[in-house]
Amino acid sequence: TMSSNQDPRIKIAVQKSGRLTEHSMELLVRCGLSYSRGRDRLICYGENMPVDVLLVRDDDIPGLVQEDICDLGIVGLNIIEERRLELLERGETRLFEQVSTLDFGQCRLSFGVPESMPFSGPESLRGKRIATTYPRIVADYLRRNEIDAKVVEFSGAVEIAPSLGKADLICDLVSSGATLRAHQMTEALTILESRAALIRSPVPVPPEKAQWMKRLLLRIEGVLQVRESKYI
Ligand code: PRP
Ligand code: ZN
Repeated sequence: TMSSNQDPRIKIAVQKSGRLTEHSMELLVRCGLSYSRGRDRLICYGENMPVDVLLVRDDDIPGLVQEDICDLGIVGLNIIEERRLELLERGETRLFEQVSTLDFGQCRLSFGVPESMPFSGPESLRGKRIATTYPRIVADYLRRNEIDAKVVEFSGAVEIAPSLGKADLICDLVSSGATLRAHQMTEALTILESRAALIRSPVPVPPEKAQWMKRLLLRIEGVLQVRESKYI
């Protein structure tokens, strides 16, 4: 069964392929985990700890953890925040818990505007159409700044929206800035600084998992501390 409450093994949800994948697996390996990849390559079975890693779409990670299908998840603050707003909207009171932020996956959620569009601050967003895959974070930002603008929800490739005439500007993750540049846009304003974070299920850890959960969380903390001290 996949229900974590009956399964004595700890399940961690990790991004299947993307900016967090390698760093996430590396963190777990630093914690001492050795694993073998399942036949379908979507589950990594821990060989020396009762810990398995599920490789899934990053957008699915908060939901898997909130529903207690996975005990832990490693995912970006951008996705955590979008899902948090969505769950609150739905009146859901049982959220996932954020254990700690991690030392990788740094990027930012910013407005990207076409080079031809004048931009002199939040006011410039008034009346505009903003394409994004983060509709709730953007709507929340606009609400808090009392700006009337239209949020156009995309499920990917938002950077093409302005040239398609579907939006005036975008709000998307920026890391190197290469994607914006390639589409003749500039980063105008950051609304969220993001990085990877560790989240856990809101359901109390069942006793048969408690010992290893505690050990694993301590090891993660230890790895982060060692790395931090190396860079000071
Ligand atoms: C983000 C964003 C851009 C790119 C920006 O996508 O949507 O496509 O990264 O990075 P850059 O500034 O270095 O060019 P991501 O790789 O996170 O994939 P996803 O949004 O499809 O999950
Ligand atoms: Zn994604």
